[in-house]
This record gives sequence, structure tokens and C-alpha cells, in this order.
Amino acid sequence: ASTLGASAAQSGRYFGAAVAAGHLSDSAYVATWDREFNSVTPENEMKWDSTEPSRGAFSFGNADRIVSHAQGQGMKIRGHTLVWHAQLPGWVQNLSSASDVRTAMNNHINGVMNHYKGNIYAWDVVNEAFADGGAVGTLRSSVFQQRIGNGFIEEAFRTARAADPAAKLCYNDYNIDDANANKTRGVYNMVRDFKARGVPIDCVGLQSHFGNPPSNYQQNIAQFAALGVDVQITELDVGGSGSAQADAYRRVVEACTAVPRCTGITVWGITDKYSWRSGDTPLLFDGNYNKKPAYTSVLNAL
Ligand code: XIL
Repeated sequence: ASTLGASAAQSGRYFGAAVAAGHLSDSAYVATWDREFNSVTPENEMKWDSTEPSRGAFSFGNADRIVSHAQGQGMKIRGHTLVWHAQLPGWVQNLSSASDVRTAMNNHINGVMNHYKGNIYAWDVVNEAFADGGAVGTLRSSVFQQRIGNGFIEEAFRTARAADPAAKLCYNDYNIDDANANKTRGVYNMVRDFKARGVPIDCVGLQSHFGNPPSNYQQNIAQFAALGVDVQITELDVGGSGSAQADAYRRVVEACTAVPRCTGITVWGITDKYSWRSGDTPLLFDGNYNKKPAYTSVLNAL
């Protein structure tokens, strides 16, 4: 096939991009999105500071614009994200009791998931809850972890399952790409525990913001899949340019397609012009929407 989405679909996978509502007036941006991708993740528009900036007052305008465009194109939609320590409004960060944070968290999950009920393929229910250092399994300090305790993750997944039983529920994080890293082991142990105790979880999202993908990346995808969850590459971008970048992208795509339960790949943007990694050129299209060598290697590897 001649596009990323159609090539991925040949093996039952999707190939998506993060899209920002602020760029929808750029016709080349939208044309590239529509032509190449069959899935979307709103880059910022479904985050807590966008969807519930003040308590109980939900706003979905920018997210809805992305969702309705995607639906018109028959794309899958990944929801990103419900419970995260960043892009979190001050009113949540300032809540001081466990019951207050718990009520706010569950109300937020219900409010956002109900609005999109039946329309979201997979939700990143909890994002980036694990710490980068410390012993295996250490969670990052956040208002959720501090007030509710480590059980906030389980509670969020149970609330999410009840809110939209049709959506796949993912745990999403960065630096869990190396099969043997302590942070990876912590997430692996959590998923294994959730599966053993019947806590609802369907997928692990590997953000995969790379310099170089680890050499055991495929082994890592396979070890998560063996726990009985899907694996999705959720925020892929690779720094650099030229053949080195193209080669790294190829290895990422090959690692996914080698594992049946690696069900799709999302790149974190369409064009280098709008990448969140300013000063780098980590995406598949250059600033003029020309296909880069990395594009060709991805297309050939799908
Ligand atoms: C980034 C967006 O790309 C930026 O536009 C925003 O300013 C900050 O967040 N991990 C995530 C994403 O889960 O939500 C982040 O997106 C990148 C890192």
C-alpha cells in the first residue's frame, strides 16, 4: 500500500498521529493527516487543563473538532489522557484531602469518558505515574499519589471501565522501552498484578520518545504482550535526520509488527514544523510536508 495507514491496515494495525486543533487551519497539515493516517490522538485537547479547567465545568470544543474530523475520515481515536500529574489545573493540585481528590478524579474520568462514550478506541487512563528513579515500582509524587496513595491507579482503571466498557484502557509511560530497566519492571509488575486480580487493563502504551530505540525493544513489547495486554506505541518520535533516523524508525516498526499484540503505532505529530521537540526534526514529514527518509523506511517496514 502507498500510505502509512493503509500499510498498517494490511496486518490489522493502525498508524496514527498526534494532532493539535490549532493547526487545523493549515490545509497541508490536514491533507497529510487525512491521506497518511487512520488514527489520531489529540495532542493536548483531552488533557485535564483543557477539558475541566475549573471544577465541574467541562469544555470539549477543541477536542470535539479533532474527533469530528477523525470520525468523518473513519479514523480510530485514542483518548489522551485522564489522570496525569502534568497539564493539571491548579484547583486539582490544591485539593488536600483523600476523599476530595478521589471524588475529583472519578468525576473527571466519568465526565470526559461519558462525553466520548462509544467513540474512543483506547484511553490512556493513567499517564506517567511511575518515577524515573528509586526502587522498582516507585511511583512519582503527585496529588493523586500523595492524597489517595498508590491505589489511585487501580481506582482510575475501575472507574474508567464502568464509564465506557467498549474502550480499551491503557497505562501509558515513557522510559519503559528497555526490557530490563527498573521503571519497566515496575510497570510490568503492576500489569501482571492487575491481570492476576482482575483489575481492568487492556493495553500498555510505550510513548517511545527516542534518541535510539533500545536493542531489546521487541523483547520488551513481547514481554508485556505475554501478560495478556495489547501494546501500542503511542507517542513515537526519533531525534536526528537522514539514514540514522530512518534506520531507527525501521527498527521500531519491525519490533511492533513482529509481535501480534502490538496493535498500532502513533507518531507524536505530523510535521517537524510543529514538533514538541523544538530544535529537533523527529517526525516523518519535514516542515514543508515532504516525505523524509524515515517515512520511506516506515512505509517499507509496515
Ligand atoms: C506534550 C505536547 O506535545 C506539547 O504540545 C505540550 O506542550 C506538552 O505535552 N508525554 C505525553 C504527552 O504524554 O502528552 C506530551 O505532549 C509529551 C510527553
